[in-house]
Amino acid sequence: MRTLLSAKNLYHIYQSRKKHTSVVALKGVSLDIDKGEYITVVGPSGSGKTTFLRILGGLMRPTAGTVLFDNQDITKMPEEDLTMFRRNDVGFVFQEGNLQPDLSAFKNVANSLALNGIPYQFRKKRTMKLLKTMGVAHRKDQLAVRLSGGERQRVALARAMANNPKLIIADEPTGNVDYKTSVRLLELFRQLNKTVGMTFLFATHSNHVAGYADRSVELRDGLFLGQHGQNIDLAKLDMTRMVIMDSNNRITIPESIMEQIKNNLEFLWNIEVLEKNKILLSPIEDWSKEEIEKEEGVEIIECPICHIENSSKAKFCIKCGTKF
Ligand SMILES: Nc1ncnc2c1ncn2[C@@H]1O[C@H](COP(=O)(O)OP(=O)(O)OP(=O)(O)O)[C@@H](O)[C@H]1O
Ligand SMILES: [Mg+2]
Repeated sequence: MRTLLSAKNLYHIYQSRKKHTSVVALKGVSLDIDKGEYITVVGPSGSGKTTFLRILGGLMRPTAGTVLFDNQDITKMPEEDLTMFRRNDVGFVFQEGNLQPDLSAFKNVANSLALNGIPYQFRKKRTMKLLKTMGVAHRKDQLAVRLSGGERQRVALARAMANNPKLIIADEPTGNVDYKTSVRLLELFRQLNKTVGMTFLFATHSNHVAGYADRSVELRDGLFLGQHGQNIDLAKLDMTRMVIMDSNNRITIPESIMEQIKNNLEFLWNIEVLEKNKILLSPIEDWSKEEIEKEEGVEIIECPICHIENSSKAKFCIKCGTKF
């Protein structure tokens, strides 16, 4: 899959002028998002989720680090280009739906198309199509302020998708609706991801919301703590970062990475089960043959077929399975 966005080593410091204090909201976070992926950033209040999303969506520049979006560094983009980027390449949905309260559902969506100079007939057609897809076409003339929380989020999503963005960023998109409505919204997001291939990046404090995504990354105090779900690339994780299993106690690891780990499993990685569903992988120094022999109390022998080193106690080679 093609990488859509690559955030590298982001730091963000908020300076408070009044109290002469500063808050380090992000402490070196990196994330790659593939085209068509559905990712959530999960973490408790104050962990840095909104800060991270705002930087990734070009709403704010980080104190340090880079964000490559389609290979363009948006952290260094001139302001006018950044405005165009926000208008065309990303769509935003916030907790409150961020609609204009005194405009109708229709106008909220159509206006974002007007900004791009789309002719009225086309605007009308596209707006109605989007409202229909989101299941709120019948509410088109209702003022945003009179819509229910769930309807507001659907209209906000229609608006976010209006200009065919490459990425939808949503900050607690189900934060203000009841459980049943949130499930319906989450199913709608999932369906759009599967059918249209829309790339989603959400922030949430809820594991339930995160459970709908392909992958979720966990922020704690400005740092990534671990990842859940599928397609977790261990090679991209920091060396001592935790890998967290999904609710079925499964970690899905791409085959190429599995190969890499399997070959070195015995010698390079220390695997420690911390809690029921948390594993800590930490690298063991690349020990010399003598050190391993001393530590393990075994001799190291080389497999005659694949030349991988094995313990002399092993009955078969850990790589190719050759019997000793
Ligand atoms: N404008 C600001 N000025 C100063 N500090 C800020 C500002 N915005 C956020 N912070 C601080 O930065 C840290 C991260 O905040 P952020 O809003 O990114 O967290 P969050 O994970 O989105 O939290 P929540 O779940 O409550 O929305 C917090 O300690 C917060 O107090
Ligand atoms: Mg937030």
